[in-house]
Amino acid sequence: MLSSLKKQPADRIIGLSALYNADPRSKKIDLGVGVYKDANGNTPVMRAIKEAEKRLWDAETTKTYTAMIGDGGFHTAMADLVLSNSVDRDRISFCATPGGTGAIHHVLELVKLTGANPTIWFSDPTWGNHLSIAKHLGMPFAKYGYFDNYTRSVNFEGMISDLSNVSKGDVVVLHGCCHNPTGANLNKTQWGLIADLLLEKEAIPFIDIAYQGFGEGLEEDAFGTRLLAGKFPEMFIASSCSKNFGIYRERCGLVMAISADPDTSEITQGNLSYVNRQNFSFPPDHGARLVTMVLTDTELRANWVAELEDVRLGMLSARKKLAEALRVECGSDRFGFLAEHRGMFSRLGATEDQVNKLRDEYGIYMVFDSRLNIAGVTEEKIETIAKAVIAVGI
Ligand code: LMR
Repeated sequence: MLSSLKKQPADRIIGLSALYNADPRSKKIDLGVGVYKDANGNTPVMRAIKEAEKRLWDAETTKTYTAMIGDGGFHTAMADLVLSNSVDRDRISFCATPGGTGAIHHVLELVKLTGANPTIWFSDPTWGNHLSIAKHLGMPFAKYGYFDNYTRSVNFEGMISDLSNVSKGDVVVLHGCCHNPTGANLNKTQWGLIADLLLEKEAIPFIDIAYQGFGEGLEEDAFGTRLLAGKFPEMFIASSCSKNFGIYRERCGLVMAISADPDTSEITQGNLSYVNRQNFSFPPDHGARLVTMVLTDTELRANWVAELEDVRLGMLSARKKLAEALRVECGSDRFGFLAEHRGMFSRLGATEDQVNKLRDEYGIYMVFDSRLNIAGVTEEKIETIAKAVIAVGI
C-alpha cells in the first residue's frame, strides 16, 4: 500500500533550514525560517518563561488530563491579550491547539463541519502553509491582491477590488499584524475599510495572529483583530504563542471562534471540542500553562513585556540600519521600505534566481520569494548583506 504514495514536495521554508544546516561555510547567514535570534544568533528561552518553568516545576502536582479544549485559564488570558473587551466573552468558543498551525487547521476543519462549502480567501502572497492546509483539506480557495512588488507596500486598491468579489459566507483570511511574508501591513483606516467591505459582503473574517508584539507593540498589533471582533457576528481567530513567547517547540496555539449569540457559541464550542477529540484528544498543556502564568502574574508579565519590547525594538533598529546600509551601497532610497515594514519579515522583491545567487555565492539564505527574517540581520552582518544584495542585482 505504502508503495503507492507519491512523494510530497518539501516545505520551502522548513526545507531551507536543512539546506542551511548542511552548508559547511562558516560565514553563512540564516535569514530563512521565522525564528527569533539574538545578537549572538541564539534563540533564547525568554526570561519570564524560564522563571515560570521553575515555578511550575515546584508547584505542579499532577500531569493528568486537562480539558479537551485546553485549560480555561489559558483561554481567558489569551482572550484578554488578543481581544481585550472588543466582544462579549459568551460569544467566544475556544480550543487550545498544537501551535498556530494547529489553530489554522482546526478553524478550517470547523468550517468544513458547518457543511457550507465557502471559498477561503488568502492574501497574495501569504504564508505558504495557509494554501497547503486548505489544499490538504480539499477546500476551495482564492487569492486577493495584497502586495505591490514595485513599491513593496500594500496594494490596497487591488485588495479592495479583489475582495469585492467575495460571496456571502466566504471566509477571508487576514494577517492580524506583521504580514508574513511581506512585512507590509494595513493601517488603521484600511482596516476600517476592509471591515466595512466584508460586512457589506456578509463574509466571515479569519484572523491569523502569530506575531503580536513584534510590529508596533502588543496593543497596537491587536488593533485590526479587535476592530473586526467588535463588528462581525461571526469571526475566527488563530493565535500563536510560538514567537511572542518564544516557545516554538512547545506547540502552543489557540482557536477563538466568535458566534452571533451565546446559544450558537455553545454549539460551536462543542464542535471545537469534537475536532480536538478526532485529531488528538487533549491539546499540549505545558506551553499554554507557562503562557497563562506569565500573563496572569504581575511580575512575570512585566518581565515578558519588557523583553518582548526589546526584541521588537531590536528588529526595528536592524530594519533601519539595513535600509541605510543599502542606501549607501546603491545610492538611492529604493530599499527605504525595509524601515517602513513591521514584524519579523520583509520581502525584498528579488527574483528566485537572485535569491539562489545570494545563497550559492554569498552563503545568505532567504526564502525563495525573497522573504528575509529581519531577526537574522545582526549588526556585524549588515554590511555583508547589503553588499551582496546589490552585487546580485536586486
Ligand atoms: C515561518 O513563516 O517561517 C514560520 O512561521 C515558521 C513556519 O512554520 O513556517
